[in-house]
Amino acid sequence: MKGLDAFPRDLWPTNIPLLYYSYHIMVGLGTIFIAITAAGTWLLWRRKAYAARPFLWVLMLSFPFPFIANTAGWTTAELGRQPWLVYGLLPTPAGTSANVSAGNTLFTLLGFLGLYFVIGVLFLLLAMKAIGAGPAHVSHHERG
Ligand code: HEM
Repeated sequence: MKGLDAFPRDLWPTNIPLLYYSYHIMVGLGTIFIAITAAGTWLLWRRKAYAARPFLWVLMLSFPFPFIANTAGWTTAELGRQPWLVYGLLPTPAGTSANVSAGNTLFTLLGFLGLYFVIGVLFLLLAMKAIGAGPAHVSHHERG
């Protein structure tokens, strides 16, 4: 794997600290997910998962992490290729369209923000409903 120092400075991504941390947050969370999954698999196998309160707390409190990892991964991809849209071919400033005004872009952005806000609130409501209802069929055996 070539390091950054193998490339001339003017080809470096523009925001290296943010790139560094978003990548490490993604990989760090990915590593945590592997550990949680291993622990969960082991507990399920020993039929202790539904009675292991500390583990259930870890599971519940981890629910925002995939969203954070996703966003950090996407940030990595977007920042890592700056200042290029297509590496070596199309610089980001050359990628704008003369036919789309700034107001147009802002309008679309606000539209998507609104749409995803509604979907996000719906998701939270549904997730809280599912958490409130608890696991559907837990046998005596699994409850421990
Ligand atoms: C386990 C360790 C992980 C490693 C080693 C890893 C590695 C990578 C690499 C190399 C990239 C490409 C960056 C680029 O464009 O050059 C990437 C992108 C990405 N990763 Fe990860 N990743 C890990 C975990 C995760 C996890 C747990 C998530 C989400 C739950 C995630 C979500 C993403 C997303 C959304 C992208 C951007 C994809 C795109 O838009 O092209 N990654 N990851």
